[in-house]
Amino acid sequence: MPSVIAISGTPGTGKTGIGQLLVKRLNATLIELSHLAKEQQLLLGEDLKRETLIADTEKLQQYLINLIREFPKTYVIVGHFADEVPEKILEFLVVLRCNPITLTQRLSNRQWSQSKILENVQAEILGECTMQALLRHKRDKVFEIDTTEATLKEVADAIEVIQAGTSHEYTVGHISWLSTLDPRIIHEIMEENTLPSKS
Ligand SMILES: Nc1ncnc2c1ncn2[C@@H]1O[C@H](COP(=O)(O)OP(=O)(O)O)[C@@H](O)[C@H]1O
Ligand SMILES: [Mg+2]
Repeated sequence: MPSVIAISGTPGTGKTGIGQLLVKRLNATLIELSHLAKEQQLLLGEDLKRETLIADTEKLQQYLINLIREFPKTYVIVGHFADEVPEKILEFLVVLRCNPITLTQRLSNRQWSQSKILENVQAEILGECTMQALLRHKRDKVFEIDTTEATLKEVADAIEVIQAGTSHEYTVGHISWLSTLDPRIIHEIMEENTLPSKS
C-alpha cells in the first residue's frame, strides 16, 4: 500500500536527519520538499526580506498526487511546509519541536542572519508549524515530538510508535514553550527581538 509520512517543523528541529534515518528503516523514499520545489520549478518566487523561496503550493500538491499515483510506494516527505502534503495522500504528519534555546544554538551553526534565526525561534515559540498542520489536517493525523533531548534514533522510534497507533503520547497539546520557558526569556525573544544567549 502506498503511504506518505510527512515531517514538518521549524528549521533546525531535525527534519533532514530524521528523514534520512526513517527512510532506511522503512525502506521508503525521501523527499525534501524545498529541493523538490526548486528542481521541479514549483515556485512562485522569492521572499527577499525573509530570505526564503515561496513554493507554488497548488502545483506542488498536484505534483505529489501524480507522483504517488504513478509510483505507489512509501514516502517520507520532509520540509517546514510539509503540512502542504494533501490530506488525501497523507497517512500522518509529525511536527518536530525543539526548545527555543537549544534551537537558537542549532541555528547559529548556519550562515544565517540574526533576523532569520530570530524569526524561526519566534515561530517555534508560537508553534507555527503545528498551527499550520491543524489548519490543513484532521487533528488525529497530526503529532508532535520534542527533539530537544532526543537522539535521532529515539525520534525515529517515536515515529514508528505513532505509525503503530499504540500510544497517545505524541498527540497535539503536550508541548508548549510558552508554559515551560522562563517568562523573561519569552519576553526577550518575542517582545524585545533578542536571541537567547548561549548560557
Ligand atoms: N535530536 C537531535 N539531537 C541533537 N541534535 C540534533 C537533533 N536533531 C537534529 N540535530 C542537529 O540539529 C541540526 C539541524 O538538523 P536538521 O536535520 O538539518 O534539521 P532541519 O532539517 O529540520 O532543518 C543539525 O546540526 C543536527 O545535527
Ligand atoms: Mg533540513
